[in-house]
Amino acid sequence: MIAFSNVYKYFGRSEVLTNISLSVQEGTMCVICGPSGAGKSTLLGTVNGLEPIDRGEIWVAGRRVGDPSVKMRDLRTQIGVVYQSFNLFPHLTVERNIRLGLEKGLGLDRAESIRRAHCELERLGLLAWRDALPAHLSGGQQQRVAIARCLAMKPKILLLDEPTSALDVDNAMEVVGAIRSLASHGITILLSTHQISLFCDIADYLVCLEAGQIVEQGCREQVLAEGCPSKLNAWIGRLQAMNGRAHAPAANDPSPVAQVG
Ligand SMILES: Nc1ncnc2c1ncn2[C@@H]1O[C@H](COP(=O)(O)OP(=O)(O)OP(=O)(O)O)[C@@H](O)[C@H]1O
Ligand SMILES: [Mg+2]
Repeated sequence: MIAFSNVYKYFGRSEVLTNISLSVQEGTMCVICGPSGAGKSTLLGTVNGLEPIDRGEIWVAGRRVGDPSVKMRDLRTQIGVVYQSFNLFPHLTVERNIRLGLEKGLGLDRAESIRRAHCELERLGLLAWRDALPAHLSGGQQQRVAIARCLAMKPKILLLDEPTSALDVDNAMEVVGAIRSLASHGITILLSTHQISLFCDIADYLVCLEAGQIVEQGCREQVLAEGCPSKLNAWIGRLQAMNGRAHAPAANDPSPVAQVG
């Protein structure tokens, strides 16, 4: 569904992505872990063309990003993006936040936009909150509204950039649970995080990015296999030793979420 081939990206003279080659299969979840400044957000931004690349190729759903014959607007309708900061409109109710893009962006009529909004809110367990303003919701609920808003547009791909970084552990776990259920519904997910402990149990594929380079990548079973000398395994082992607990914290675990970097 997404394929990077020898991708390079510069900001001025600074090389922020170096020789990135990566494939994300349809209906799988790929998690990119790395410290601050590693290039995670930049990498995600290249998928919908918001961050143009300087060398290499990126293919999305069989079309090359940046190809003059590919209409970026069409491509972007297939790609939903969720950021750390939710970006909900504070003066609109939950339902109106979701309907806005459906009516103004996709041109759906009121009845259809309400139907879709309710369907996604129900899927994310938020239907009872449809008439509430974002400020009256917890951070985890707001992030789930942001995800519902994205899903209502029926994208093939979801880009999640640090979706839990602004949340405490309980809210973060709530959002991880919502993302886990999406992954089992056939949507292709590319997610960036430095909270590796939250996602290593639900990722299909893990990528370790450092200073713009992929230093490790592989299926979860492969890179996290017991005794595998992978960097990710070493990180997780270190974090477990620090926290004295398993990979993902229990929902009621108040200890801080382990982070990379
Ligand atoms: N618009 C920009 N202009 C110049 N440099 C930039 C720009 N955006 C990002 N960078 C630089 O590119 C590098 C990668 O940044 P990026 O935001 O992709 O990292 P990140 O892994 O997402 O970090 P974080 O975990 O803090 O979000 C950093 O060195 C950053 O300073
Ligand atoms: Mg970032």
